[in-house]
Amino acid sequence: MHDDETCDTAGSVSAGRDTFLDHDVEAAVYDATRGGAPRAAAAAAAVLSLVPDAARALLDIGCGTGLVTERLGRPGLRVLGADFSPGMARMAAGRVEGVVLADARRLPLPDASVDAVSAVWLLHLVPDARTAVAEAARVLRPGGVFVTTVDKDAGHDVGSDIDAVLAPYRTARAYDRAARIEAFAAAHGLGPAGETHFTGHGLGRSPRRTAQALLRGEYASRLTARGAVAEKLAAELSALPEPDEPRAEPRYRVLALRRSSASSPPPH
Ligand SMILES: C[S@@+](CC[C@H](N)C(=O)[O-])C[C@H]1O[C@@H](n2cnc3c(N)ncnc32)[C@H](O)[C@@H]1O
Repeated sequence: MHDDETCDTAGSVSAGRDTFLDHDVEAAVYDATRGGAPRAAAAAAAVLSLVPDAARALLDIGCGTGLVTERLGRPGLRVLGADFSPGMARMAAGRVEGVVLADARRLPLPDASVDAVSAVWLLHLVPDARTAVAEAARVLRPGGVFVTTVDKDAGHDVGSDIDAVLAPYRTARAYDRAARIEAFAAAHGLGPAGETHFTGHGLGRSPRRTAQALLRGEYASRLTARGAVAEKLAAELSALPEPDEPRAEPRYRVLALRRSSASSPPPH
């Protein structure tokens, strides 16, 4: 399948990294700027609601600082984390036992070794989401589930004045759009197994916060604005009324995709 996973080079800056967000730099401010514990608790509850009771091992890919990962534990469930940013992985290791420095597209785990893989706010950052989904499918046991956020940036579309300003720059090509992820999943033996949502507590965006996030590259696959255009758009956002007043809180979509129970390995 040809898709857009390799064509958005505007966001690529350094070897092996897919967006212009510097995750090592982000690590220091991440928890304070992404909703902290309330957002993490809501995300973890959503993920766990889609993980079967019988699951014994869960791998959280793109685990970041581990704020969500540490909340994924429950009796009988061993939780591991993986992230490719040394800064993020170091912070997660302070919270969760069993954190590995690893790219989601090349996991250092054997085939069929875990019962669940979670990815919270990861795939919108990964142009090559197809390989990440394939890896999740590979490490899942038959009957295991891949639980992932999809349409992450669209969760912020709440019908506000900010949305109106951003509208001309929106793409329909977000790396984590649901139909795209479901198609990759199907190609690797994962079928629909439920969905839920969680609220981004404290993450209602203000015009100024949106401008800063835009300039940091947070909307890399959702908006076309880059460079000077992004700067102009950021200025336009900051000129909106009540620029520091948060608009409505976002709502994020979470899908569960189950590996078929047939014992054959998923196609690579
Ligand atoms: C927006 S943060 C989400 C962190 C965490 N899941 C949470 O919800 O708090 C995205 C994380 O994914 C990591 N990441 C991005 N691309 C990755 C990849 N290809 N492999 C592994 N980690 C990746 C980044 O380093 C960052 O820690």
